[in-house]
Amino acid sequence: MYRIIAKERLAENIHLLEVEAPEVAKKAQPGQFVVVRVDEEGERIPLTIADWDVEKGSMTIIFLEVGTTTRKLACLNAGDGILNFVGPLGRPTDIDHFGTVVCVAGGVGAASLFPISRSLKACGNEVITIMGARTKQLIFWEERLRSISHQLIITTDDGSYGRKGVVTVPLKELLEARKVDRVIAIGPAVMMKFCCLTTKPFGVSTIVSLNPIMVDGTGMCGCCRVSVEGETRFACVDGPDFDGHKVDWDLLMNRQRAYLEEERKSLELWETKALKK
Ligand SMILES: Cc1cc2nc3c(=O)[nH]c(=O)nc-3n(C[C@H](O)[C@H](O)[C@H](O)COP(=O)(O)OP(=O)(O)OC[C@H]3O[C@@H](n4cnc5c(N)ncnc54)[C@H](O)[C@@H]3O)c2cc1C
Ligand code: FES
Repeated sequence: MYRIIAKERLAENIHLLEVEAPEVAKKAQPGQFVVVRVDEEGERIPLTIADWDVEKGSMTIIFLEVGTTTRKLACLNAGDGILNFVGPLGRPTDIDHFGTVVCVAGGVGAASLFPISRSLKACGNEVITIMGARTKQLIFWEERLRSISHQLIITTDDGSYGRKGVVTVPLKELLEARKVDRVIAIGPAVMMKFCCLTTKPFGVSTIVSLNPIMVDGTGMCGCCRVSVEGETRFACVDGPDFDGHKVDWDLLMNRQRAYLEEERKSLELWETKALKK
C-alpha cells in the first residue's frame, strides 16, 4: 500500500494527494505520469505528476472528480492507502534553453504544467504562463505558478477573475507583440487544439500533452493510440507530449466521444437491469 501523507481540497471537485512513493519520486521528471489503482476492484487511471520530493520520498497528484475512480480517490484521507501507484511513466517533457516559452494551462492542466514551467525557468527561459478556468472558484496554485513565471496571465470564461475570455486571446496577443520561441499547452483536448490553431500561423513550435483513454500505460493494450503526422503513436510510451501541429485532433476527440457513448450505453444497460429487478 502507498500511504497518503496529506490531502488538500484545492477547488470545487479538485483535490491534491501527497503519497509516500520514494521509488517513484527518485525517478520523476516533469511531464511524466503515474497509473493509480485504489483497491482490488478498482480500475487503473493515469494522473500526471504535479510535484515530488525526493528527500521526503513523496509524490503529489492533483485530480478532478469526474467518475468512479477519481471519486474513490477523493474519499481517501491522510493515513489511508492506495493499492497501486506505478510510475513514473511516459517520456519527460523536453526541457532546454529555448528563449521565451509561453505555458498555457486549462483547468486541472495547471497541476501538470507546474513542474514543467519550474524546470524551464531553472534552465534560463523566460516563462510566461497563461492560466485559464471556467470560473474563479476553479483556480488553484495561482501563487505557485506566479513564483515560477516571469509573467502570469489569468483568464476565466465568465470574467469572475482575471481577464474575461479564453486562453487563446492573450496567447494571440503575445504572439503578435513579441518573439515567442515555444508554446506548451496542457488542458482539455479542445483547448490544446485551439492553442495549436492560434500558434500555427506564427510558426511557433507548440507542445501538447495528450490525454486519450489509457488502460495499462505501458504500450501493451493500444488503447491510447493517437495519430501524429499520419502515424499511429501510443500516448503512454511515445508521449504524452507531442508536436501539437502534427496531431489529428478530430480523431482524438472522436475517440474520447466514442468512449463517452459506450459509457452512456453501459449506464443505460445497468439502469434497465436495475429496473427489471
Ligand atoms: C496521461 C494522462 C494524464 C492525466 N492526468 C490527469 C491529472 O493530472 N489530473 C486529472 O484530473 N486527470 C488527469 N487525466 C485524466 C484522468 O485519467 C481521468 O479523468 C480519469 O481516468 C477518470 O477516471 P474515473 O474512473 O474517475 O472516471 P470514468 O468513470 O472513467 O470517466 C468519467 C469521465 O471522465 C472522462 N475521462 C475518463 N478518462 C479520461 C481521460 N483519459 N481523459 C480525459 N477525460 C477522461 C470522461 O469524460 C468520462 O465521461 C489524465 C489522463 C491521461 C491520459
Ligand atoms: S495505455 Fe495501453 S498502450 Fe498506452
